[in-house]
Amino acid sequence: MEEAAEELERLAAEIAHHDELYHRKDAPEISDADYDALKKRNDAIEARYPELQREDSPNLRVGAAPAEGFGKVMHSVPMLSLSNAFDDEDVTDFWNRVRKFLNLKEGDELAVTAEPKIDGLSAALRYEKGKLVQGATRGDGREGENVTENLRTVSDIPKTLKGKNIPDVVEVRGEVYMAHADFTKMNERQREAGKPVFANPRNAAAGSLRQLDPKVTASRPLRFFAYTWGEMSDMPSNTQKGMVETFEKWGFTVNPLFGCFTSVEDIIAFYHDVEERRADLDYDIDGVVYKVDRLDWQGRLGFVSRSPRWALAHKFPAEQAMTVLEKIEIQVGRTGAMTPVARLTPVTVGGVVVSNATLHNADEIERLGVRPGDTVVVQRAGDVIPQIVRVVEDRPRGKKKFEFPDKCPECGSHAVRETNPKTGKLDAVMRCTGGLVCPAQAVERLRHFVSRNAFDIEGLGEKQIAAFYEDGLVARPDDIFTLEERDKRSLKKLKDREGWGETSVKKLFEAIDERREVDLDRYIFALGIRHVGETNARLLARSYGTLDHFEEQMRAAADPDSEARAELLSIDGVGEVLAESIVDFFAEKHNREVVEGLRKAGVKPVPLEAQQTDSPVAGKTVVFTGSLERMTRSEAKARAEQMGAKVAGSVSAKTDLVVAGPGAGSKIARARELGIEIIDEDQWMEMASN
Ligand code: IVH
Repeated sequence: MEEAAEELERLAAEIAHHDELYHRKDAPEISDADYDALKKRNDAIEARYPELQREDSPNLRVGAAPAEGFGKVMHSVPMLSLSNAFDDEDVTDFWNRVRKFLNLKEGDELAVTAEPKIDGLSAALRYEKGKLVQGATRGDGREGENVTENLRTVSDIPKTLKGKNIPDVVEVRGEVYMAHADFTKMNERQREAGKPVFANPRNAAAGSLRQLDPKVTASRPLRFFAYTWGEMSDMPSNTQKGMVETFEKWGFTVNPLFGCFTSVEDIIAFYHDVEERRADLDYDIDGVVYKVDRLDWQGRLGFVSRSPRWALAHKFPAEQAMTVLEKIEIQVGRTGAMTPVARLTPVTVGGVVVSNATLHNADEIERLGVRPGDTVVVQRAGDVIPQIVRVVEDRPRGKKKFEFPDKCPECGSHAVRETNPKTGKLDAVMRCTGGLVCPAQAVERLRHFVSRNAFDIEGLGEKQIAAFYEDGLVARPDDIFTLEERDKRSLKKLKDREGWGETSVKKLFEAIDERREVDLDRYIFALGIRHVGETNARLLARSYGTLDHFEEQMRAAADPDSEARAELLSIDGVGEVLAESIVDFFAEKHNREVVEGLRKAGVKPVPLEAQQTDSPVAGKTVVFTGSLERMTRSEAKARAEQMGAKVAGSVSAKTDLVVAGPGAGSKIARARELGIEIIDEDQWMEMASN
C-alpha cells in the first residue's frame, strides 16, 4: 500500500513533467509509447487502490489548455439570486411574509437558518456515483461555463464523496472564494513578477477560476464553502440544516457560523453577532443569508422572478469614504431618462477604486444640497453603484449650484418631467423626448436588446454594438439580423475592421443566426418597453402565447374601451401604468417597424412552453375568488402558474376555471352566467397536489 502511494507520487510528477515538455514547450523527451506506458502503470495502480488517487493524478488533470474559451453547461436546476434586505424592518417583513404565505397560525413554529453570505462566486459541482464529473460557474443562472478542471484544483472540493448511501446524482453548490492572507500573498507574487494585481479577493477568485490553464488555477489558493444544491436524485434530508450537515459528512467544508432559529429576534441577533466578527474573519462576507429550514415549505414558497421566496440576504451596511465631487455630468439612458452622475476624485472604498457615483435625479441633488467642488461622503455596498451619502459641511464648499439642463446633452431635444399616472404627481426623472433620434437612447436600446437576459448574442457586446452604431451599420435591432446580407454586398467588409477577422466575423454571424429563434419572453423583454422587465415579459409571453397575437391585441387595446384592453388589465400583475406603456409602445410607428423588421429578417420568437403541460389547468385561465383557507392567495396563484395556468383577476368569457372560497360574491355570479366551471378549495387542492 505504502509502496503504491509512493509509486503514484513519482508517476504523477514524471507524467506532469512530460506533459509540460510536450504541450507547453513542444519538446518531448520520451517517445509516445514510453509516455503511454507510464500512464498505463499509473492507471493500473489507481484502479487497484482508488482511495490512493492523488489530487494531482494525471487522470484528473488535462494535458493542455483548451484552445478556445470554456464549454457551456446548462444548469438542470437554474442558479438563482437572493432578494436583499438592508435593515431589521426588511427582515421582519420577510418573516411575516413567509408566515402569511404558508398560512401559519400563532402556535405554528417557523424555523429559519442563518449563515454568512460569502463574497465570492458561486459554482455548481455535479457528482455521479460519488465522483466529481462536472463543475460549472453560475453564468446567467441558466447556463454557466464548464470549469471542471479548474474546480478540481480546489482542495476544499472533494473529488470523491465520503460515506455510504450517496445518491447517484448529487449537485452541490456553494461559493468559491479567496482568503485574505492568500490574496495578499498572491498579489505580492504577482507584483514581483511584474504581473497585474487584483483589486480585491473576489476579483482574484473570479480571475483565477476562469483561467484557461488549470495549472494556473492550481497555483491560486482558492477555497470553497458548500451551502446549497441543484439536481439531486435523492434527498438525504428534509431540512436545510440537515442538507448542510450531509454536505459536511460527504467531505465538504461548510461555514462554521451556522444557526437555526425560531424567532425573528434570534436571526437578527445572529446577524449582529456575525457583523461583529466580520473584521476577524479571513474572508469577505457581505451579509447574512436566511433560509426557511423545512424543504417542503421551501417548495411551497417557490420563487418570484429569479429569487426564492424562502430566502433572504441581509446585507451589511455599506462602506464609506470621503472625496471631492469634481463635476456633475448627465447620462441619458435607454428610455431617455437623464441621470446625473457625479465624477469624483478617485478614492478607495472597501478595496475598490470609485470615481463615479449616481445622483439619481434633480431632487436628489436638491436633497443633498450638493454642488460641484464639495467634499462628499461616498458609499458602496456589494455590486451596487456607489452613492453620495452627504456633503461634508466643514470643508471648503463648491461655488455654484448645479443647474439641471432642460435639453438632452446627446441630441439637443428638450427634456420633460412626466406625470406619474399612478400618483398624478410629477415624476422625479427628466426624460429626453428624442426617442430613436437620440443616439444615447438608440445605443442603449441596442445594448439592452443584445444583453444577457434578452437576445444574448455571443460576440456582440456593448463595445461592438456602440461601434457598429457609430459607423451606421446597426441603427435598429432588426439591422443586426441583416448584417450578414449587407456585409456580402458591402465594399468595406466587417472582417477588415479593426479587432475583427475572418473567424470572428463568421462566428458572429453564426451567433446571430442562432438567435433567430429566441424565447418569446426574451424577445418581449428585449424590446425595451418601459416597465416591462423580465417578470412582466414572461407574464405577457405566457398570457398571449405568440408574438403575432400579442402585437395584434396590444394594437386593439389602444382603444381604452376595447375588450383587448379589458383583457390586458385582467391579467394578474398588469396595472394601468404597465398596460398604458405597452399600448403606447405599439402605437409608435418606429417600434412597429422594428418588430416588422425583425419578422422580415427571419426572427421567430418561440412560444414559452407552459411549465407543466400535462396538468389539468395547463394553458387555461384561472380566477381565484373568495377566501382560501388551506393555501394563501399568493401561494395558490404561484402554484397555478407553476402548473402552466394563467391567473386572471377578473372573470370574463376567456376564463376557464373559477376557484371559489367562502365569501365569493359577484365573480361567482358572473361565472355562472357565463357557464364557467366553478370548483371549491378542496377540489383545487386535489388538483394542485397531483
Ligand atoms: S443561497 C437560491 N447561501 O449569493 C439561492 N447564496 O445573491 C441560493 N451566496 O449567487 C443561494 N453566500 O453566489 C446562498 N450562504 C449563502 C451564500 C450565497 C453567498 C451568493 C451566491 C448567490 C448569491 C445570491
